[in-house]
Amino acid sequence: MCGIVGYIGTKSAVPILVGGLKRLEYRGYDSAGLALVQGNGKMIVHKCKGRVADLEKLLEGKDSSATIGIAHTRWATHGEPNDCNAHPHISQSGRIALVHNGIIENYRILKEALKAQGYSFNSTTDSEVLVNLIEHIQKSNNCTLLEAVQQATKQVIGAYAVVIIDRENPNQLIAIRQSSPLVIGIGNDDYFISSDAASVIEYTHDFIYLNDGEIAIVGRNEPVRITTADNNSCRVDVSKLQLSISQLEKGGHAHFMLKEIFEQPNTLHDCIRGRIDKATYTPVLSGVRDNRKHFLDARRLIIVACGTSWHAALIGKHFIESFCRIPVEVDYASEFRYRNPIIEANDIVIAISQSGETADTLAAVELAHRCGAFVYGICNAVGSSIARATDSGTYIHVGPEIGVASTKAFTGQVTVLLLLALTIGRERGIVPEDRCKQIAKDLLGLPQVLDSALKQVTPEAKSLAKIFTYAHNFIYMGRGVNYPTALEGALKLKEISYIHAEGYPAAEMKHGPIALIDAEMPCVVIATPDSTYDKTVSNMEEIKSRGGKIVAVVAEGDNLAAEIADYVIVVPRVDECLMPIVASIPLQLLAYYIAVNKGRDVDKPRNLAKSVTVE
Ligand code: F6R
Repeated sequence: MCGIVGYIGTKSAVPILVGGLKRLEYRGYDSAGLALVQGNGKMIVHKCKGRVADLEKLLEGKDSSATIGIAHTRWATHGEPNDCNAHPHISQSGRIALVHNGIIENYRILKEALKAQGYSFNSTTDSEVLVNLIEHIQKSNNCTLLEAVQQATKQVIGAYAVVIIDRENPNQLIAIRQSSPLVIGIGNDDYFISSDAASVIEYTHDFIYLNDGEIAIVGRNEPVRITTADNNSCRVDVSKLQLSISQLEKGGHAHFMLKEIFEQPNTLHDCIRGRIDKATYTPVLSGVRDNRKHFLDARRLIIVACGTSWHAALIGKHFIESFCRIPVEVDYASEFRYRNPIIEANDIVIAISQSGETADTLAAVELAHRCGAFVYGICNAVGSSIARATDSGTYIHVGPEIGVASTKAFTGQVTVLLLLALTIGRERGIVPEDRCKQIAKDLLGLPQVLDSALKQVTPEAKSLAKIFTYAHNFIYMGRGVNYPTALEGALKLKEISYIHAEGYPAAEMKHGPIALIDAEMPCVVIATPDSTYDKTVSNMEEIKSRGGKIVAVVAEGDNLAAEIADYVIVVPRVDECLMPIVASIPLQLLAYYIAVNKGRDVDKPRNLAKSVTVE
């Protein structure tokens, strides 16, 4: 949800800012812009509707000598995507400019008050209100920019990461963080401010992660200072981030999504590495070991997440309830945070988030803390807000996920949830040792299984995609752990192809949705072997007898479901716990190839952004 970059140093700012924006485009791509202060003290702003590529065109032939600047790629919250609403926004006098990620909730009141003071506005954004508020405070109190920023943060309500540039002080940037991510990269003789450290990883691996309520003064040739609205100085901690550029490139694939689908054998290898003792097939999660008492005493687990992470949570519920016999509730983070949830002593809240920045999930973590819960995080992005806000946790370690549709993060989350359930189940003496060892052994072999699954299902997914490219609706069905897999398959299809798709527990069909079935309604059924296989087969018969077209995902050696289905995708036969991971592969590929056939922008689907930092 909007990406911010700032630069101050000795190099030309433009290529650094534009390069950073390109890497941040997964956060929003409605419009892009930058502001520079040149050596002569002149503020230059270039911005336009569209992608960073459009901004690049706009910049062709323009002066790029400035060594300080701020830049932004937008996901619109207030005001339609157009040139005027694009960031940076400049104050009325033209002295200061800012870029903003987040929402100023009380912007209407502030705007009215500023209008009464003679301010007029060019855009319909909340961000333009903030820049004028800062200017107004500075002018009326005759104070420094920092003092004005400190006072302004006391007046605004909402979530924001902001970087401010002042044409009268070309040696300083000011950065503020409140519930939206912001990091400062430390170069040799320069600083890089960004919404995501990965965007500037070619310049530095050393980062300062700002905390909520912190204001950073990033000055040329001086150490970064961090303060608060009340002028209390804060500690400046520098962390190392290990990440390579190749992890941020497409590696020869047409899209990041395809690269990420095909990476899954490796990403799951990384996810599992060091977490299963290969001699004894014992799962070891340090987050559980270090907090053994919490997990032994737990009476209930509440998992909070959004989107794909919520689907992984539903699968995790099956694992935890069956291997640990602890009741598990799964809640949308956005519902949990406004529901006055009941959290009792010995409840554990688990937050799942790929980005670690989802505003609702972060707010749910904060609420759980206020209610006294022990909060465990399952994140991908190292050093992210949720990873830092939780008491302990497990990284899924699948590497940066750049395609907006989540793929490898989902399979990583399911894998970690399985390891978590087995580890807690063992500690509590619930999961039988031989069952635990068997699954652990199968998990170690999973990367190889995924490798064969990818080879096996890709041609099938491609040819099915040709048949169904022009379908208007899809139903996905499954039972047990395959129901959340169906939900995830439907989400993949709708978000990147814009085809309407719904996921249902197969038995629910006859309670209403079966009315939708006719020859025009493709039904994707996950009919892999488990305790409900026969029931799923009966549900398929019901669809078939109403003329529905069935695509069945079945395991090798299946002949019952395969015979009823019109089209079959065969996946390797694995333990039912691992099936959501294996069965997801053809669903990801089917969605991908349909979207490609429709000419969709697979990595940047309309209206979406990868990191949902506003609620
Ligand atoms: C779907 C997708 C989203 C995210 C959701 C939560 O493909 O990517 O539904 O899963 O926005 O994001 P995280 O996991 O970053 O909290």
